[in-house]
Order: sequence, then structure tokens, then C-alpha cells
Amino acid sequence: MKIKKAVFPVAGLGTRFLPATKAMAKEMLTVVDKPIIQYAVEEAFAAGIEQIIFVTGRGKKALEDHFDRSFELELTLEKKKKYDTLKMLQELVPKTGTIVYTRQNEPLGLGHAIWCARDIVGDEPFAVLLADDLIQSSTPVLSQMISRFDRLRASIAAVMEVEPDQTDKYGILDADEIEDNVVRVRGMIEKPKPEDAPSNLAIVGRYILTPKIFDYLGENKAGAGGEIQLTDAMGQLLKEQPIFGYKFQGTRFDCGDKAGFQMANLAFAMERPEIRGKLAKFISQMGQNFCIERK
Ligand code: G1P
Repeated sequence: MKIKKAVFPVAGLGTRFLPATKAMAKEMLTVVDKPIIQYAVEEAFAAGIEQIIFVTGRGKKALEDHFDRSFELELTLEKKKKYDTLKMLQELVPKTGTIVYTRQNEPLGLGHAIWCARDIVGDEPFAVLLADDLIQSSTPVLSQMISRFDRLRASIAAVMEVEPDQTDKYGILDADEIEDNVVRVRGMIEKPKPEDAPSNLAIVGRYILTPKIFDYLGENKAGAGGEIQLTDAMGQLLKEQPIFGYKFQGTRFDCGDKAGFQMANLAFAMERPEIRGKLAKFISQMGQNFCIERK
């Protein structure tokens, strides 16, 4: 079965980025010149996704407007003969009906956010993308995962190795490597302390899930941090169905973290020919100054 739907939990308040996110959705923070959410949406479409499901909340209007037409802006660009910019803006708006919105009325956690999309997803396997995890790769990570899904026919989470003292920031797997870059999951724990972690293999925000997950998400059991955790529901699902971890090809940036967000900006800016030269010069000067200061 083809993966056609992707759920984007975008209801979070973004408190780590205050005051920037006081009156602005955190998903609208820009990496170079595009909001974080646009990178994830482009990744989903590039992987063949046909329907985007945003699980939003209060204060996310800008996100909805971003993927909608702006006639005033288009008219102005047309009058000014800025046809390239006009085309770019028009291409950014998906076909009417491709994006569906639902709301998470209470901040009960990632698992709950995904459960809010249950009726829209229905009875088919689907993708989940956490936009905060921005990944630079030549093949979109979701495409890499869908080609694994076509063979494995089971739920898959993107994973990467993290520093052992960082396990309390992630869902961590207990797993066995079964082939190159694929592990079979034995168990998973959300945000374990380093001394309790079964490994340093961490879940990154890309998942393909079978619809059975909704049965467990619907049990509404709070886990780590008092929130309904996707990791816990996946742990339950494991009793019935296999789950795999996929070590993706690419570099992941944690845009939910200030340092990670700055690194993403640098890395993505360096991919732009029109910026690269100036930036590289600046970075090397900064590096020299920094080294001098440290000596
Ligand atoms: C969520 C998941 C966690 C995963 C992480 C990846 O946590 O609950 O299992 O490792 O995303 O970014 P959050 O970062 O939302 O706290």
C-alpha cells in the first residue's frame, strides 16, 4: 500500500524560542529564507505524499496563510513584473484540498497530537514528520524510508546515534541490526536517563506508522513528562507487529534548540551559491578570531 498521507504535529507553543515565538508560530521561524515547516512539507511532497494533515492549535494562523494564496501580494508582484518571485510563491501553494487541518485542543503530548488525526488518516499506513528535525540530504529522508517500507511492510522510525549523555532528549531504542542501516526494535523508552538507556540509538522525527497505532494512542496513557507519548504507543504496538529503525543518510539539525537552529541556518545557507562565498569568508574570519581569543 502506498503512503499517501503525512501528519505534521504543529500545535507546540515553542517556549524555547521566546520571545521570538510570542506572537508567531515556531514553525514559521526561518532557515535562510524559508520557514522550517516548508522544508518538511517539501520533503513530504518529494516523497510522493498526496495529503498533508496539520495538527494545529491556537496562534497558528500564519502557518495556514503561508500555504494559501495571497492575491494582494501576487497582484503587486505582477504589477512590478517580478515574475520569478510570483512563480515561486504560486508553486508553494499546494492544490486546493491537499492540506487538511485539525486541532489539538489540549497540549497533551506528541502521541495525543497524532491521535487527533485518526479520522483523517483512516485505515492506512501514514507518515509523521516533526518539522523541528530538519534534515539535509541528497535523497529526502522520507523517500529513503518509504522505499524501506515497501519491502518491510511495517512501522519504521528514523534513527541516529547520539552522544550517550544525550539520551534523555529522545526516544531510545533497544534494537538488533538486521541488515545495513536497518534495525529491528525490541523495545523503546522515551527520554531515558543515560544510566537507564538501552542504547544510544535515538528516534529522529520521521516515522511511518501502521494505523493500528491509533488503538494504543487512544488509550490516553500519560508517560514521560506527563504527556501521551508516541514512543509508548509504539512500544505497545510492538507486541503485535514488528517495528524497524532506519539509520537515514543525511545530517539532522535540531531546530527546536537554539544552537541547532543556528547550525541549520549556516548549513543550508552554504548550499546557496549566492550566499556561500560571503558566508564562508565570514566564518573563516570568525573562526580565526575565535581561535585567537581562546589562545
Ligand atoms: C519527540 C519524540 C522523541 C523523539 C524526538 C525527535 O520528542 O517524543 O521520541 O526522539 O521527538 O526529535 P520531542 O523532541 O518532541 O520532545
